[in-house]
Amino acid sequence: PNDILISPSILSADFAALGQAVRDIDSAGADMIHVDVMDGHYVPNITIGPAVVKALRPHSAKTFDVHLMITPADPMIGAFVDAGSDIITVHPDAGPHLHRTLQSIKAHGIKAGVALNPATSPRVLDHVMDSLDMILVMSVNPGFGGQSFIPSQLAKIAELRAMIDATGRDIILEVDGGVNPQTAQDCIKAGANALVAGSAVFKGAGTYSENIAALRGSQT
Ligand code: DX5
Ligand code: ZN
Repeated sequence: PNDILISPSILSADFAALGQAVRDIDSAGADMIHVDVMDGHYVPNITIGPAVVKALRPHSAKTFDVHLMITPADPMIGAFVDAGSDIITVHPDAGPHLHRTLQSIKAHGIKAGVALNPATSPRVLDHVMDSLDMILVMSVNPGFGGQSFIPSQLAKIAELRAMIDATGRDIILEVDGGVNPQTAQDCIKAGANALVAGSAVFKGAGTYSENIAALRGSQT
């Protein structure tokens, strides 16, 4: 497996050809497929639901990294699990009982993650670390692709890396928003080991495979 996991966000793909997009990033070397689920309520945009995740599932065997920007999340977890999610990530302020939400995801036998918005403190994770398989640092405010990386999040990544190392567990530390070949290196130095990228993969200068390699910091 790769040291740095790359999870291209299909939010930046052609929505009229999502199956093809998933097959293309799979063969271009993506480690995971990042699916941004937005409800027009928790965030000011609406994207895709469980039916689309289910339709995409046969197009790749890679990890479906499903990022729920919806409130409440709890009533939809079963549907996203049934659709084929491998990891479900929720926002702590999208529901009243984060611990219960994480237990509910894990009770389905898949991995659970928590996403922190740019203004959200790592302290919200202090009492749920033992339930986590992934922490996702939002380096933009959630809702849209193509925004600029917020540099203050690098210190948060470093803080979370120390918190994860203190657990001795293998919690994925993923960064999402404005990740390009330059900011990717800053994130990796700060301790991230997974990177989401929408624009940098789907609208980058090279082929998908070159764009993914550039995020890892290597030539194709
Ligand atoms: C934003 C989403 C991101 C987005 C990233 O709310 O969570 O996953 O697709 O897009 P880029 O990489 O273009 O910033
Ligand atoms: Zn996302």
